[in-house]
Amino acid sequence: MAKQEGFHDLPLTAPKGAKELWRWLRDELRAEILNGRLKRGARMPSTRGLARQYQCSRGTVVVAFDHLRAEGYIEGKRGTGTFVALELPDDSLSARRPAVHLPKQTSRAGLSNRGRIATEHVVTLPPSRSIGKAFRSYEPAIDLFPVDLWSRISGRVVRRAPRSLYGQGDCRGYAPLRKAIAEYVGSARGVRCDADQVLVTAGTQQALDLIARLLLDPGDPVWMEDPGYPGAAYVFRAAGARIVPVPVDGEGIRIDWARRRRHQAKLVYTTPANQFPLGLTMSLSRRLTLLHWAMAQSTWIVEDEYDAEYRYFGRPVSALQSLDESGSVIYLGTFTKMLFNSLRLGFAVLPERLVDAFAAARSLTDRHAPTLQQAVLAEFILEGHFAHHVRRMRQVYAERISVLVEAARRRLSGLLEVAHAASGMRTIAWVRNGEHDLDVAQRARSQGLELAALSQFAIRYAAPSGLVLGFAGCAPAELRRGVDVLAFVLEGTWENGPPRQKVRKEAE
Ligand SMILES: Cc1ncc(COP(=O)(O)O)c(C=O)c1O
Repeated sequence: MAKQEGFHDLPLTAPKGAKELWRWLRDELRAEILNGRLKRGARMPSTRGLARQYQCSRGTVVVAFDHLRAEGYIEGKRGTGTFVALELPDDSLSARRPAVHLPKQTSRAGLSNRGRIATEHVVTLPPSRSIGKAFRSYEPAIDLFPVDLWSRISGRVVRRAPRSLYGQGDCRGYAPLRKAIAEYVGSARGVRCDADQVLVTAGTQQALDLIARLLLDPGDPVWMEDPGYPGAAYVFRAAGARIVPVPVDGEGIRIDWARRRRHQAKLVYTTPANQFPLGLTMSLSRRLTLLHWAMAQSTWIVEDEYDAEYRYFGRPVSALQSLDESGSVIYLGTFTKMLFNSLRLGFAVLPERLVDAFAAARSLTDRHAPTLQQAVLAEFILEGHFAHHVRRMRQVYAERISVLVEAARRRLSGLLEVAHAASGMRTIAWVRNGEHDLDVAQRARSQGLELAALSQFAIRYAAPSGLVLGFAGCAPAELRRGVDVLAFVLEGTWENGPPRQKVRKEAE
């Protein structure tokens, strides 16, 4: 292989026993970028060359590149190849703090075994520098969030709050917020609980972390839907748990399939209202099968309803928790998707027997979520603004998915078939021209689109070729632009010249 600048120091072969070659390669390349041997702006070695060098498939290298690109370490330039990013994600961190992305040799050296396991498989989301970009899937319509109203309520709460709210707060969360959440999930999702069972968390991710630390021992088997949510898999792996991938079909996670193989489970993680990432709803009979089985096995079920409020058609199905007679289900919800990401507030509805343990564990970590911010959210809910906002967003998102489906039907016929999501903030576009989704996604990202290939969410079993497209946070014009870019990516020609990007850039 022709040597590229700064690349000759990489080992010539992959280490023996590297479990997942793409992860190893990604970590090595990231370390080379961070230590400056692969310089900012320099051309990356070719995927073909790397594949030859490490005797792996080009797809393996492409996956490593995809992750580096998603994390912001490399970027594509049309027609000219892939380059190290000029601005690295770590730039936004203080120089003295360790990097969030932990490359193997450099910043993982002093870690404990637990620390090494916990950081081995983590991909962090880069901080947003703009909003509304096609087809970012993890942001709601932030531009439509009622900022004036929020700031009025914030001002009022901060001015009028009794001084006790400036003191130590409750580990379980601010009591009026817990009450408001219990009422809301009861009426909107059929969840059966009282306020004492609600634990306010820093989003779903923290709830998953508490669950993993309190309910799982190293080696414990955890069933994950395959394809499934990597954010959950990372947390369970970090706790040393053993991930057991279980395929999904049109009715949801395939309990019988796993049972026939005599797979045991300490915990099942599931997204029944809107399967991540396929967008399917778990059938009632599958829900009952799961609950009966979990009760018989004393298995915990974690029900993650991260965007269940947004249903556009079909009958809404109540939460799995509403059918649970045995106290096996932990129900999770988050305001990061219902309101805005940086709010970092979510909640867990716990079986009664777990409440004290979770409150104690919370006290050991960050004690509690910021009380004044919780009080603002409580007012926002109690004054009816939350329900109004969710209703409004449901209409906006329903319009946006229709725009996306229609634009795709017009421009991408025979190439990409965009499913009309029944719920949620993202949908699947099935690749119909026979290409591998990783290849399509890589080319789309090099054209500035933000999207993932369905294969990136496959844990063990191959997923069909598809793209995961977010639509909720993107204005109709941006969705149409995104479709034009996808048409260019798949056909190689523009219909009316390259479309201009109209996303809201933040003032520098
Ligand atoms: C399946 C799933 N659960 C939960 C979340 C949200 O997690 P958090 O509340 O930590 O932002 C996401 C975010 O994308 C998700 O996709």
